[in-house]
Amino acid sequence: MRAALLVVLGLAIGIIGTVFTMRALSERNPFPEALMVTIGFHRHQLQQAVKGQRCEASANLDQLQRMQMIATDIPAVFADAPQPFKDLTVQLHTALQKAAQSAPADCPALAAALKPVDQVCQQCHQQYR
Ligand code: HEC
Repeated sequence: MRAALLVVLGLAIGIIGTVFTMRALSERNPFPEALMVTIGFHRHQLQQAVKGQRCEASANLDQLQRMQMIATDIPAVFADAPQPFKDLTVQLHTALQKAAQSAPADCPALAAALKPVDQVCQQCHQQYR
């Protein structure tokens, strides 16, 4: 009898624990991930441009400027992030600004402009993702 009660109690605690965990997960702020998905989308667009050898200056600049705008939002969206993370967001913004200013007009120029940008993405992901 006592063993059966303990089993029931154990199950109940398990269920309650699961409910709390699921709630915590669903309440997780979706904004940081959404922002990354969006900046990733524009990075992917540029990747497709290089792959298809269709790198027009105005389209390149447009995508880079969008990424730059999104990068501006990272510090506010990842508000609790530590200082080294914030430093990386500044680096990303600077790298994107330089890439946009270089106004890549063909695929090799675009690929070269994206290199320092990708390095910052990678550096932050290695540490914080
Ligand atoms: C300052 C740090 C930082 C920089 C710089 C950064 N990211 Fe992220 N990224 C993150 C973190 C943290 C996550 C995990 C977010 C989460 O799941 O809540 C992430 C996740 C992602 C994801 C996965 C999203 C998902 O869950 O589906 C993509 C795609 C992404 N980043 C793209 C990029 C690209 C492209 C760049 C560069 C242009 C970049 N990120 C630069 C911190 C950064």
